[in-house]
Amino acid sequence: MGARVALVTGGTGGIGTAICRRLADLGHRVATNYRNEEKARDWQQRMRADGHDIAIVPGDVASPEAAEALVRGVEAALGPVDILVNNAGITRDTTFHKMTPSQWTEVINTNLNSVYNMTRPVIEGMRARKWGRVIQISSINGQKGQYGQANYAAAKAGMHGFTISLAQENARFGITVNTVSPGYIGTDMVMAVPEEVRNKIVAQIPTGRLGTPEEIAYAVAFFIPDEASWITGANLSANGGQYMGW
Ligand code: CAA
Repeated sequence: MGARVALVTGGTGGIGTAICRRLADLGHRVATNYRNEEKARDWQQRMRADGHDIAIVPGDVASPEAAEALVRGVEAALGPVDILVNNAGITRDTTFHKMTPSQWTEVINTNLNSVYNMTRPVIEGMRARKWGRVIQISSINGQKGQYGQANYAAAKAGMHGFTISLAQENARFGITVNTVSPGYIGTDMVMAVPEEVRNKIVAQIPTGRLGTPEEIAYAVAFFIPDEASWITGANLSANGGQYMGW
């Protein structure tokens, strides 16, 4: 398969960095967005130092206008987007009876509305070119729910509803749409969970450990080659066996 242009949202984060690296290693031209320029430039330098040239474009995926501008920025820098990985996400964990409107809205905007904001500006081009890959990074907690994550689980479950609808609408256009649902991965997001709570969660993972960002990047890359053209609307769990729903 030839080189494609890939846009990975939230690429400077834990899982996002591994996805950017892997797609670049596969020969694709990769871009990500940022909100903090200084941090993003540092990240880009570190990526260059180990041989990965990743384009960075400003833009908050939670804003429809900013998301569209960011897509146009990537198109100007690298060309039309063939592969979109909706990876950007945040947590605002708290039990629902204490949840504030902003804790609800921030998570829904960044984790779910972003999927509309980012996919809308790329889908027509993919349909016109008859090739595309749209991959949502959801979560095990969108599949099973999680104490303290009514906002996050709602957004993550919503992402897969989006996947299976978009997959149907675009199957005839050479576009596959899939979800990867990571379990608990050793990123800053998971390390922010209080240690005592986290240890109890790790004890429930059959493999007995947290996952690595590279293990998620591998699952994302699986959906990209032409050999994967028959796989659309899937939800691929990568969670160390913690949840085996089907
Ligand atoms: N099931 C049942 N009861 C639970 C529970 C659970 N899973 N977790 C906590 N409780 C109980 C506690 O035992 C405690 O009960 P007692 O008061 O009777 O002792 C009560 O709920 C309150 O618990 P906390 O003291 O923890 O309450 P808190 O308000 O300080 O914190 C919380 C609540 C923020 C939800 C905290 O428990 C927490 O951070 N949990 C982890 C949430 C989580 O897994 N987040 C994932 C982040 S990583 C991510 O999101 C990536 C991904 O996709 C996987």
